[in-house]
Amino acid sequence: MNFYVDQDISIAKSLDSSFYLNDKYYSLSIEKIFKKSWQFIGHKSEFINNRINPITILKNSVNEPVVLTKKDDDYSFLSNVCTHRGHIINQKKCNSKTMKCLYHGRAFDLSGKMLNMPGFKNVKNFPSEEDNLIKLPSFDWADFLFTGINPKIDINSVITDFKSRLANYPLSKLKYNPKLSRTYRLDANWALYCENYLEGLHVPFVHKGLNGDIDIKSYQTELLDNGVLQYTNDKSDDLYAYYYWIFPNMMFNFYDWGLSVNLVEPISANQTRIKFLSYSLKDDIKTKTKVDELHEVELEDEEVVLNVQKGIQSQFYNNGRYSADYEKGTHHFHRLICKYLK
Ligand code: FES
Ligand SMILES: [Fe+2]
Repeated sequence: MNFYVDQDISIAKSLDSSFYLNDKYYSLSIEKIFKKSWQFIGHKSEFINNRINPITILKNSVNEPVVLTKKDDDYSFLSNVCTHRGHIINQKKCNSKTMKCLYHGRAFDLSGKMLNMPGFKNVKNFPSEEDNLIKLPSFDWADFLFTGINPKIDINSVITDFKSRLANYPLSKLKYNPKLSRTYRLDANWALYCENYLEGLHVPFVHKGLNGDIDIKSYQTELLDNGVLQYTNDKSDDLYAYYYWIFPNMMFNFYDWGLSVNLVEPISANQTRIKFLSYSLKDDIKTKTKVDELHEVELEDEEVVLNVQKGIQSQFYNNGRYSADYEKGTHHFHRLICKYLK
């Protein structure tokens, strides 16, 4: 397949269906896109009680064992793999001030520096820099933590947009709400899920409930570097939501009740996990009703995405055209895939 989608949406054709179906392109996407992306890990408040927090970056695909350590107000993402023989150091959250590998007892401090190791008295040039744990790049925006393996895909333009557009949003009042968070599993390619999110063209057809709440004529799409912003008003002309998407797989949806983060995690070419993390301003019945509505919308989206997963396997379908007015986000996404896979 040649990764080409014309820049001019009015003449462009979408990606070939083999992109979504072929294991070769799935693996290429993990290597060239996901390993080069920033990934959202959580809000600082979720890690407040433990100095040591093991996490896996993109379980089932990138699968990188990492530990988030907290030293006073300093948060660091470190490799969770022992520099001796590769045993995974931390298995559970805890509040210890040092990390000790259970295989042969190598110990590290919370910044990853190797402290001591039994049986190494007669080893030359030891310890060296290479015996410390690798520190991963990271940043936080309003206490939301991001890290990545080799995050070359720049998302500054999205963060800058967050900062200006959300200047009056009560970000500091958002609290992670585990009761209102859930995980879905979908037998479809991750990119089909994302491209559905990136256009509002399907809303009147697929989301009758949502369509009754919003003024679809106010629906806007703005393209950012490695991101897309969509927003729409409700029937009384107040802003209903900012829907931010960060390439390749993260969605930050800001509503009047709080923030819904959707993380799209590839499991295989035809399996995807979608995490819905709720950060609410209040923990009340109105918030629960709003999140329940998102669940309904999610099920409606899953149904069409599953249907497309079947349809693109047809001998008679390869790709299609874009609505120049309503599918700018999907077109941008496809062009980004081409850019990074070329
Ligand atoms: S593998 Fe960790 S101490 Fe040997
Ligand atoms: Fe949808």
